[in-house]
Amino acid sequence: MEEELIGIKNTALSFILEAEDLQSLEDTKLQFLGRSGKLTLAIKEITKIPLEKRPAVGILANEVKKTIEEALLQQEKLLSKKKNENILKKIDVTNPGVKPTLGHLHLVTQALEEISTIFESIGFSKEKYPEIDWDYYAFSALNFPKDHPARDDWETFFIKGEEDKKMGKILLSPHTSTGQVREIEKGKLPIRMLNIAKCYRRQSDVSHTPMFHQFEGLVVDKNISITHLKGTLDYFVKSYFGDKRKSRIRPYHFQFTEPSFEVDVTCGVCLGKGCRLCKAGWLEMGGAGMVHPNVLKAGGLDPKIYTGFAFGWGVERVLMMKAGLEIDDLRLLYSNKLEFLSQF
Ligand code: PHE
Repeated sequence: MEEELIGIKNTALSFILEAEDLQSLEDTKLQFLGRSGKLTLAIKEITKIPLEKRPAVGILANEVKKTIEEALLQQEKLLSKKKNENILKKIDVTNPGVKPTLGHLHLVTQALEEISTIFESIGFSKEKYPEIDWDYYAFSALNFPKDHPARDDWETFFIKGEEDKKMGKILLSPHTSTGQVREIEKGKLPIRMLNIAKCYRRQSDVSHTPMFHQFEGLVVDKNISITHLKGTLDYFVKSYFGDKRKSRIRPYHFQFTEPSFEVDVTCGVCLGKGCRLCKAGWLEMGGAGMVHPNVLKAGGLDPKIYTGFAFGWGVERVLMMKAGLEIDDLRLLYSNKLEFLSQF
């Protein structure tokens, strides 16, 4: 056994010294130290020799292993150095340089940043709320009666599990309005909150992704009126889409605002005159309205003293409208296809 070990050591050392590149050194390493390498197998045999001889053979085997490992390390250093020198020798400084490819932020991330900056510049502050929340904050506190059919419009993902008496089920937040009552409850006035976050709905087709983003504004104070809402919308539309664009509000219905509106923006091509692209001159952007008294009450405020407005739009939607992108499948945004993403 001792002789065998010494033999293995000698062959290994000569192989190591003869290795001319890192690959053959790696092969040698496997050949001796790998799972079915020569030394590994020999060490397994030690259990078969008589007990009294084992300690001495064991010590020898360890020494052999250490010697081989050290030799491997030395040779590896030597070969890597040689390799680097060879590379240096081959560099032709007159060759044009190779530009490293640079990444950039995803276009939705770019939009999130741009939108945040616009609202922060007029005094809104960004707040964060749970993405997984109670039914209460997504619906009940927003004046949706239990089992009201309007809840179905939000195509919500509910999470299986216990139901809380007051809070109801747990869900993936289907809109950023979930932050409204959470914000009012903090009891800090005036409120000028911007909630820009992921939302989830059970929809996946050419114009919907199950995860998307909304940005929501909520302003609550004494004497807040529709003119404040309209001014804020106009400011956003001009800052984001450009000076020539206008916004308008149309009556609509939401459970949590009264009155409620839908907001339109003039088409970027015809600026409101009407063209092939937009038909009537206006493009629909999203919802808005004056905070419903029941929502203020749910957050602990007296609606006779305080009023407020709220709006909530889709980030992906305004992004498409701004860029004039005609993507025939919105899911492309989240497909991680570099051919698509590197264009922005
Ligand atoms: N949460 C509404 C939606 O997802 C939009 C909205 C927000 C409407 C705020 C009014 C006020 O469609």
